[in-house]
Amino acid sequence: MDCSRQVVYQIYPKSFQDTTGNGLGDLKGILSHLDYLQDLGVTMLWLNPIFPSPQNDNGYDVSNYTAINPDYGTMEDFEQLVAEAKKRGIGIMLDMVFNHTSTEHEWFQKALAGDPKYKNYYFWKKGKNGGLPNNWPSKFGGPAWQYVPEFDEYYLHLYDPTQADLNLSNPEVRKELVDVLNFWIDKGVSGFRFDVINVINKTSFEDAPQGSEGKEFYTDGPKVNDYLHQFYVEALSRIDPITVGEMSATTVEKCAGYSKPENEELSMCFNFHHLKVDYKDKQKWTMMPFDFQELKNLFFTWDTQMEKEGGWNALFWNCHDQPRALSRFGDPVHYPKESAKMLAAVTFTRRGMPYLLYGDKIGMTNLHTASVHDYVDIESLNAANMLKEQGKTDEEILAILQAKSRDNGRTPMQWTNKKPNAGFSEGKPWLKVNDNAETINVESVLQDDDSIYAYYQKLIELKKTNPILQHGHTVPLLESDDNLYAYARRLGDQEILCIHNFYGNDAPLSLELQGYRRILSNYPDFDESAYSLRPYESLILEKNA
Ligand code: NOJ
Repeated sequence: MDCSRQVVYQIYPKSFQDTTGNGLGDLKGILSHLDYLQDLGVTMLWLNPIFPSPQNDNGYDVSNYTAINPDYGTMEDFEQLVAEAKKRGIGIMLDMVFNHTSTEHEWFQKALAGDPKYKNYYFWKKGKNGGLPNNWPSKFGGPAWQYVPEFDEYYLHLYDPTQADLNLSNPEVRKELVDVLNFWIDKGVSGFRFDVINVINKTSFEDAPQGSEGKEFYTDGPKVNDYLHQFYVEALSRIDPITVGEMSATTVEKCAGYSKPENEELSMCFNFHHLKVDYKDKQKWTMMPFDFQELKNLFFTWDTQMEKEGGWNALFWNCHDQPRALSRFGDPVHYPKESAKMLAAVTFTRRGMPYLLYGDKIGMTNLHTASVHDYVDIESLNAANMLKEQGKTDEEILAILQAKSRDNGRTPMQWTNKKPNAGFSEGKPWLKVNDNAETINVESVLQDDDSIYAYYQKLIELKKTNPILQHGHTVPLLESDDNLYAYARRLGDQEILCIHNFYGNDAPLSLELQGYRRILSNYPDFDESAYSLRPYESLILEKNA
């Protein structure tokens, strides 16, 4: 599918709208808001996993790939959602977790029962020298191996011990996964997001050398391309889908390869390098102001190199694995609207396809809470234990979770301040509703013509209709400026100039704005003789013909 004019809206189903009072969002809840999503202008809804799952990792531990988690509804609800979304010109994108299954999945249960066919669906290794098979850590903390005494063997889990890695080098496993894709294609699904898809090819099980975590033995292996191509040929090519691969610790070259149309693998890739610019010494559970130069360098490199190599980027600030960008790169206290609009404009004016997370369009922020006990995410809880062991105080741990926890991007949707739990649920929400729902909620923004929501509508329309933003080259500008992120998008002799102030101060501007007219900006007025940008000001200008 031509991805240049598509916009994806990510829904965390558990947190969107509860219609049963059980404290969990559900499919009927999504259905009830389709008109609103159509009004916003998005073309596809990405739903985080909605399959049966023990929920140790909020659905990324799938125990049945071809059914609906009863907490979220029924298959009929899903079919209705697909049909009703289609009527509104909106596709449904499902989240395929093919690197691992839940240990409650039938395949793993059969493996545990000793069935050799199913044992070979996973990775089993003997321990070495009385210890683990190798020294790889799991991405959620602790070792990546779990011992099963009946076999005197360990199975591999790059994530939680209840998420066993699938052995995709086994053709029978790949055939099962192809069948899963075809099942959902038959249900009318038109998009797929592939979870951590670049770690599905383990090339060796040797010990990680000093200073490495072993990623080089399972990341971006050469067979990833073959497996993706197989999924394309045997399933995806039946329709003209939008597909996106989530890539862990990847490179531009690899992502260009995965997303070049002629390779018939994916439509585009998510990479996370730009969301590590506030990691001190590359460690997530630390506090550091973001490195603006590094952020700009990454954007410039990815935008220009992907274009040069014919690949396609997925553009995003937020997802369910990240704290809210407004709290991280903007200023939700002094400039909530200006900075949220500026961040949105960055996503919609770069080369690639924009993704927004539920809540972005009303300016949802990180969770404000006074207690570590309000966090429920497995990664956050493991991190809290680790920080405690490092000797951090409860206050320090809380401050780090408030800035870094994945729960920040998962709190219940804030619909209104007139009902309990921000209108999300009549029961007890599975995760705390942010206190700021009193002022930040959908009902309030819809009454404001100058809202973040209204700005998103304009940006979405612009992306859908403007060929320069869809196909223009990226020309980096003001590369070493301390406040401004600036670039031109050029198509033939047409040009759009984008300048964004990432700080809450006036920022001197050395670019000449005479000869440009305003398409969109986040302050009411535009002065083409300006010599500075105001706090978080963001200009999208078109060169006069
Ligand atoms: C990436 C998903 O986005 C994340 O939420 C999950 O924990 C891991 N993959 C493991 O599936």
